[in-house]
Amino acid sequence: MNLPSHVTLVDVGPRDGLQNEKQPVDTATKIELVHRLQAAGLREIEVTSFVSPRWVPQMADNTAVLGGITRQAGVRTSVLVPNLKGLDGVLALPAAARPDEIVVFGAASEAFSQRNINCSVAESIERFAPVVQAAHAAGLKVRSALSCALGCPYQGEVTPDEVERVVVLLKGIGVDHCGIADTVGVGTPRRVQAVMERALRHFPLVEVSGHFHDTYGQAVANVMACLELGIHQFDTSVAGLGGCPYAPGATGNVATEDVVFLLRGLGIDTGIDLDALVDAAAFISAALGRRPVSRTANAWLARRAAAAAAGSHA
Ligand code: HMG
Ligand code: MG
Repeated sequence: MNLPSHVTLVDVGPRDGLQNEKQPVDTATKIELVHRLQAAGLREIEVTSFVSPRWVPQMADNTAVLGGITRQAGVRTSVLVPNLKGLDGVLALPAAARPDEIVVFGAASEAFSQRNINCSVAESIERFAPVVQAAHAAGLKVRSALSCALGCPYQGEVTPDEVERVVVLLKGIGVDHCGIADTVGVGTPRRVQAVMERALRHFPLVEVSGHFHDTYGQAVANVMACLELGIHQFDTSVAGLGGCPYAPGATGNVATEDVVFLLRGLGIDTGIDLDALVDAAAFISAALGRRPVSRTANAWLARRAAAAAAGSHA
């Protein structure tokens, strides 16, 4: 089986990871997290959202976070944008703070679209169309995220036909990239492949990615299933942070550390330093007052602690 030789991971921890946090997370902590992800070798970071602060208060400091980041050469940033108002916010940023990419986010299920962005799927596409046009005119790449592609917390089952219908609509308004999202983590490998194949009918391999929440522990297996199709971009979240405020019960994204460990084992390059990544996971988890969700991060930290204890007894 020919697997990709390189995989790009987009760390969505600062956005998907933190958007659902009930406790206040200060802007300086968010900026430090992005700096630590850069230091670990992440080259794609989803930093924040330009959504309504009434809907998602945790992302209200979007401008301050972007303004506070000292971006390393080669690092690309992205932000969620649901409408023209959000794009206006992005375009008003000073050049140094402006992201490289925006993400419009739709859904394969009507019920989730209503709960998450307060409109039908058809209305969302109408809303996104001028956003895509204006973003392109401003030189921004447009990624799309298609939620509930493997199941919906309100509707239940979602079929590959329903997913493909929205993939076609997104293609029609000119988005550059199609991210397939398992919002509630119910996908399993063969079903994930069936849905990915629908996206690959309309977008080239290089512009299809997977975004897997790990609610049922299937996300690493689902990444593997995508690698078997040649897909080589995934959204992951440092420390396994995350969840969507409008998807009750959904836990975090697959942890970046867990996917890096998988890829190292497969001999696939990511350019990410696992040791520094675990430091970033430990940093944000301490700031939030809990342990990382990531199995790899916890194993790595336990190994470090054991080595330190052995050293102190030598
Ligand atoms: P709405 O209430 O229908 O919007 O919300 P509206 O156009 O009627 O405006 C109402 C008010 O919101 C107005 O303010 C607007 O100015 C303001 P007022 O005049 O009443 O003071 N407003 C905004 N403010 C700031 N930025 C904006 C903006 N737009 C309107 N962009 C809206 C519609 C889409 C805005 C709302 O539903 C919303 O913000 N939803 C965001 C939900 C969200 O962020 N969910 C989490 C991210 S998606 C996710 O996690 C899934 C993903 O990870 C993939 C996966 O796992 O599935 C991507
Ligand atoms: Mg998500």
